[in-house]
Amino acid sequence: YDGANHTGSVSIAVIGGTGLRELPGFTQVASLNVSTPWGEPSSPITILHHQCKHNNKTVAVAFLSRHGPHHQIAPHEVPARANIAALRSIGVRSIIAFSAVGSLQEAIKPRDFVIPDQIIDRTKGVRPWTYFEGGVVAHVPFGDPFDEGIAKIVRECGHSLEGEGVVLHDRGTIICMEGPQFSTRAESNMYRSWGGSVINMSVLPEAKLAREAEIAYQMICMSTDYDCWHDSADVTVEMVMGHMKSNAANARHFVTAVLDALAADEHADLITAKHLAGSIKFGVSTPQT
Ligand code: ADE
Repeated sequence: YDGANHTGSVSIAVIGGTGLRELPGFTQVASLNVSTPWGEPSSPITILHHQCKHNNKTVAVAFLSRHGPHHQIAPHEVPARANIAALRSIGVRSIIAFSAVGSLQEAIKPRDFVIPDQIIDRTKGVRPWTYFEGGVVAHVPFGDPFDEGIAKIVRECGHSLEGEGVVLHDRGTIICMEGPQFSTRAESNMYRSWGGSVINMSVLPEAKLAREAEIAYQMICMSTDYDCWHDSADVTVEMVMGHMKSNAANARHFVTAVLDALAADEHADLITAKHLAGSIKFGVSTPQT
């Protein structure tokens, strides 16, 4: 990446979801329109400067709004391949992705945060979900769909904010449904019986594509509703937006703490995903000629 106002590398990206279309409070130094062989990403990529409170260093962070600058892109229309390819092309090797989620467990209350460690795929195969097709076959491991190194730091940051009102659940299984309609009550109960903790429409194929691109990826979920299995009112858009809005300050504190921690010197190898570099070559099963 060498944006007009800044030269250097940007290893960390934040993908914002519903209710987090920008990162207020950070200094924007560039806005990049990147195009990729898979089309245009959801939004321009903004480059923000963040001053790390641990070492006073300024780190560049890329920010991408998943549903577009005007929330005009439906979950099944998100150009996930372009988004991940665009971030990777400017140097990104680690992603913190935000998402509003419905809760499938009584203990996960609206406005609680969850750091998921597993995914169940309930998308319908209409979203392009791989870079490996049309002549190159590869199969990447996905048993642990998130990055444990990043997750550990994110959990520590979340717990450090407990005094400020952040409630954090360390683990959970996220169901990714196709949408855009919400689930039926029978589906919602079925997901609960499968052990689902939370539900959204966005973690896939994003997490799969990040893995294929050798990018360390972790989602931070914020619960906005109890879906429709619960006795309280069924989920509505107003409910999702309302909780996102009233919890925006906590979300912002959380990102800031995570960026502070990731920018610390001892995490340089983690944010540049040294542990993933070159891993894909073991997944390619098309003979090289
Ligand atoms: N995003 C926020 N709440 C949701 C729900 N109940 N189902 C699917 N996606 C959601």
